Amino acid sequence: MKLVKAAPGSIKKAAALIRAGGVVAFPTETVYGLGADGLNPVACARIFEIKGRPRFDPLILHECSAARARKLFSRVPGPALKLMRKFWPGPLTLVLPKAAAVPSIVTSGLDTVAVRVPGNRHALALIKAAGRPIAAPSANRFGRLSPTSAAHVKKQLGSGPDLILDGGNTLIGVESTIITFKGGRPVLLRPGGLPLEEIEKIAGPSVRPGRTAGKAPQAPGCLKKHYAPRARLLIIEPGREVKASARAAYLAFSERPAGKFRAVGVLSKSGDLREAAANLFSALHRLESSGAELIYAERVPSRGLGRAIMDRLRRASAE
Ligand code: TXA
Ligand code: MG
Repeated sequence: MKLVKAAPGSIKKAAALIRAGGVVAFPTETVYGLGADGLNPVACARIFEIKGRPRFDPLILHECSAARARKLFSRVPGPALKLMRKFWPGPLTLVLPKAAAVPSIVTSGLDTVAVRVPGNRHALALIKAAGRPIAAPSANRFGRLSPTSAAHVKKQLGSGPDLILDGGNTLIGVESTIITFKGGRPVLLRPGGLPLEEIEKIAGPSVRPGRTAGKAPQAPGCLKKHYAPRARLLIIEPGREVKASARAAYLAFSERPAGKFRAVGVLSKSGDLREAAANLFSALHRLESSGAELIYAERVPSRGLGRAIMDRLRRASAE
């Protein structure tokens, strides 16, 4: 495996690897992705192997324009079209009925497919040069912390990918928001980098995902336990005094805690939820590396990007 700076030459090489059935880690605006030719089932199978990801957890296809992305769906409802026009390229993934060309390994056998157009120039250049959709989950080991830098990818996946493109730290820092539709209304499958409030302004009020007994869950990858650091994580109310100790680390929203902890992270000194989301995974990676047994993480407001942050913290804290 090689780690190289994302530049025209290395992107060309990465695209050739993808076309030849290889697996390349690359930056997007949300988190790093582990990419392969989305129309090549054998290449996609390697993604599952490298991540240690169960086959029931479907992949997202990445395209370089809304026009090309649309072709991966067999049907697009009006409000979905509005969302594409408004938010692509950007941190929004749409789940809609799949076109025949999409292999079933990508969708884990579902008749819907998840597609997005990433808002990162290296990612767009790579997809364009590869000339096909790139299937990519987040470039971490299954269930572990998501990577927001090339070093995070290397730490977890080591020599798994054929190449890692280093495009610096990701801008948004949490994964894309995943939306599907039910009776023409948007349904939130995973809160993420695009706030639900913005989506509802364009596509109307959302409805809750229905649970159908005996059927695969609607967002199969959205397992209760996910994004977990190695240490136990406990969510606490901001400002609540917890016992400082050399065995515990502390993840604050905006203010440093009193007392001596093994390590401390502050997500945003000004209390800005966007900045907090951008710093979330890098702070958790750092606190994890400190060797702490326990991480206290402060609750953040559940609006805007705070919804995605709380979703990741809740999953990281699930037993
Ligand atoms: O920001 C992101 O979305 C990043 C970057 C790399 O694009 N990707 C990402 O992929 O977070 P991943 O695989 O870690 O999460 C994608 C999730 C899956 O776990 C699954 O729950 C959901 O997307 N998904 C994919 N296809 C689906 C489908 N047909 N129906 C419902 N959920 C689907
Ligand atoms: Mg993931």
